[in-house]
Amino acid sequence: MLATLDDIEKVAISALKEVQDESALEAWRVAHLGRSAPLMDVFDHLGGLPKDERPAIGRRANEVKRRLEAALLEKAEDLRQAALTRSLQAERLDVSLPGRPMARGRLHPSTQTQRQIAHIFAEMGFQVYLSRDVETDEYNFQLLNFPPHHPAREMQDSFYLDAPHEMDNPFLLRTHTSPGQIRAMREFAATNPDNPPPVRIILPGMCYRYEQITARSESQFTQVEGLAVGKDITFSDLKGTLSDFARRIFGENVRTRFRASHFPFTEPSAEMDVECFVCGGTGCAVCKRTGWLEILGCGMVHPVVLRNGGYDPQKYSGYAFGMGPERITILRYRIDDIRNFWANDLRFLRQF
Ligand code: PHE
Repeated sequence: MLATLDDIEKVAISALKEVQDESALEAWRVAHLGRSAPLMDVFDHLGGLPKDERPAIGRRANEVKRRLEAALLEKAEDLRQAALTRSLQAERLDVSLPGRPMARGRLHPSTQTQRQIAHIFAEMGFQVYLSRDVETDEYNFQLLNFPPHHPAREMQDSFYLDAPHEMDNPFLLRTHTSPGQIRAMREFAATNPDNPPPVRIILPGMCYRYEQITARSESQFTQVEGLAVGKDITFSDLKGTLSDFARRIFGENVRTRFRASHFPFTEPSAEMDVECFVCGGTGCAVCKRTGWLEILGCGMVHPVVLRNGGYDPQKYSGYAFGMGPERITILRYRIDDIRNFWANDLRFLRQF
């Protein structure tokens, strides 16, 4: 019987060496430690053995059982370790490879220009005033001295809103930033109606016109408006401020000129040109051979507009100007199509 137990142990241990995976291990357990294993047969027959043989056989049978159980645990652990090593090898992470960099965003070119303009005017003491995109006809036109049916409205074909409104005062998307002049003056004047404080602001923002979209015109674009109102403000202040602005944004040596123009809300009105920085004034395709680039519209605030803003034109005067950051960006970088600004083509945007 003791020899049988030796055999049982030897056979089981050598069978265990062949086991390669969990399911084979389970099969081994059933075969060598399960109910119908030869070892269990020995335990079943212990009672029928002669009394004096029983302790020695029993002891040896228990010893074989413990060895096999210990061998089983050890093998299970070996298999787990082997599986872990395999999966570590298979899913190896090479930390020495350079990582994939996160794509960095940037500001849109017209936002960059807009901020540069704001920065320059901030240095001259102008504050940024944000006004609304949805306006009324009254603010966008009437208070700026465009009466209903005035022909100058036709320059600014508009997007009207379908919302309920008063007669002759529909809502629309602002066609320029100028209605912000009235809103700002009224807000400033309300703080001290008899002696309203001076105004020195710029008003940046999106404007909308019902335009045929071409390489030169978009239905959505930004403007930066400027407004200075106070006592004894003259046309010289306007010229000095804007000429200085041109030097700061286009370069120290840039020359400027003012041409007479017309806007209903300024009188007198002008347009400022800068000497073409592409050809230096000799004439090229960008300046259409004139040597000059038109940059902005400006003028002295019309007395009607001052009054509409709550400033007495007998005591106060002011100037206003409006420019397009897209146009300035186009000229500086010689961009040939304004539609690039809204096309969302990264190949375009990444250049700035
Ligand atoms: N609002 C005018 C436009 O959109 C520009 C302008 C602003 C002109 C202020 C004069 C003064 O064309």
